[in-house]
Amino acid sequence: MEYLDLYLIHWPMSLKPGPPTFPIRREDVVPMDSKGVWGAMEECQRLGLTRAIGVSNFTTNKLDELLQFADIPPAVNQVEMNPVWQQHKLKEYCAERGIHITAYSPLGGRGRVGNNTLMDCQVLKEIAAAKGKSLAQVSLRWLYEQGVSFVVKSFNKERLEENLEIFDWELTDDERLKISEIPQKKRIYAEAMLSNDGSLHAVAISDIDIVEI
Ligand SMILES: NC(=O)c1ccc[n+]([C@@H]2O[C@H](COP(=O)([O-])OP(=O)(O)OC[C@H]3O[C@@H](n4cnc5c(N)ncnc54)[C@H](OP(=O)(O)O)[C@@H]3O)[C@@H](O)[C@H]2O)c1
Repeated sequence: MEYLDLYLIHWPMSLKPGPPTFPIRREDVVPMDSKGVWGAMEECQRLGLTRAIGVSNFTTNKLDELLQFADIPPAVNQVEMNPVWQQHKLKEYCAERGIHITAYSPLGGRGRVGNNTLMDCQVLKEIAAAKGKSLAQVSLRWLYEQGVSFVVKSFNKERLEENLEIFDWELTDDERLKISEIPQKKRIYAEAMLSNDGSLHAVAISDIDIVEI
């Protein structure tokens, strides 16, 4: 490849240099030089190495901080978003500033955990049954109607096709209202990527993991 279309900062978090470990050792987490990192990202775009630059897992606080010194604002913020984690505050914030949202785990990231709040959601099950659609399609259609893009993942050919069949029908106002009332539950926290032992110093994960509804 000569260039990337889009290059993202994965998390607003930095680790000490060295081979990565997983789970991450708490003592390896260091304060992120946001200005320095974003400056280097901007340089990548100026050099033509990437067409656009963006961030991932950034809260409104983290975006506020970044926008204070950014010459090029982030084109995209890729975050967990689906009907059980609707990101109202972040969505509004990004829309006002022209930052596009890409939803990750649009189906609740079923592969990684045994249970899945989204796939088990009764409201979505009922809407799907009434419309003759799958629960996955209802979830993806809802995201599409929110004006965000999404990265849905499947290793199954039929499900890949199913996930594309969301463009020639729509949710009703009543269905949208029911979805807006679904209890909210976030799945992915930075804290969960850290080892249990050791101590965290110099950086507040709570600042990264702020829950914004
Ligand atoms: N930026 C970040 O920090 C971040 C964090 C997490 C994930 N991501 C990215 O987001 C993308 C997707 O995330 P994800 O894997 O967490 O979540 P996801 O796309 O919500 O869920 C994937 C799971 O859903 C299943 N699935 C797909 N289509 C389906 C359908 N129509 N009906 C039923 N099940 C279906 C898949 O199983 P089958 O394969 O068996 O179909 C797989 O187990 C990935 O590219 C990932 O790298 C980014």
